[in-house]
Amino acid sequence: MPEDDGTRNHWTPAVYDDGHGYVTEYGEAVVDLLDPKPGERVLDIGCGTGHLTAEIAAAVDEAGDVVGIDRSAEMVREARETYPDLSVQQADARSFSAREPFDAVFSNAAFHWISDVDQNRVLAGMADALRPGGRFVVEMGGTGNVDRIVTATLDELDARGYDATHPWYFPSVGEYTPRLETHGFEVRRARLFDRPTELDGGADGLASWLGMFGDGLLSGVPDSERAAVVGAVENRLQPDLFDGETWTADYRRLRFLAVRSE
Ligand code: BEZ
Repeated sequence: MPEDDGTRNHWTPAVYDDGHGYVTEYGEAVVDLLDPKPGERVLDIGCGTGHLTAEIAAAVDEAGDVVGIDRSAEMVREARETYPDLSVQQADARSFSAREPFDAVFSNAAFHWISDVDQNRVLAGMADALRPGGRFVVEMGGTGNVDRIVTATLDELDARGYDATHPWYFPSVGEYTPRLETHGFEVRRARLFDRPTELDGGADGLASWLGMFGDGLLSGVPDSERAAVVGAVENRLQPDLFDGETWTADYRRLRFLAVRSE
């Protein structure tokens, strides 16, 4: 789930759920890897509109406890409205501290919104939040994730004289594993894999994706020029990512199951 990056992204929950529901659908596999058990306490980082948080809460049962956090006030409001019994807080993973230790920390599609320099702080916080032996299950964009979209957009911005940089952190297994180990985690499973993802919205799918997630790329472009830039990016990507009906984004996932050392 996206963490509001604090710049121009103001997530619109209805657009997020209706137009990008695949984030939750694909997240089911990450919940399976978490394998939540009755009675467990679980923290969900970047819980968005709360759909996966609610699934985890159902699995841990009445005896367990699930806390979802997200930086976006809009997402938190939506999650609370949809799931009034869930515990969802507006909080920043970089400064979150747990009052009681958790059995597991879970996160789907949020960690790539945390910058390279902030990752260590967040991992230290997650290690603190977990009991010894607790699980850390995370899926994020991996190295090369949405590379064609990023490259085409940066090239188009460069051609128009804008100075833009890659806004996300997409590490490899080899880069992220030592970070986890440095923070006291034993990595039990690590996997980088291609997951081409059909975007909702038909011919508008790429524009809709850039509209929802692309502020970090397009923040220097005035609103009056955004449509022209997006149209030009579509033209660049059409031969590779559009089949005449549907856009397919070149997602690559990085998935970890790590355990806090005793
Ligand atoms: C992702 O889930 O991989 C992702 C989503 C939006 C922007 C960048 C990456």
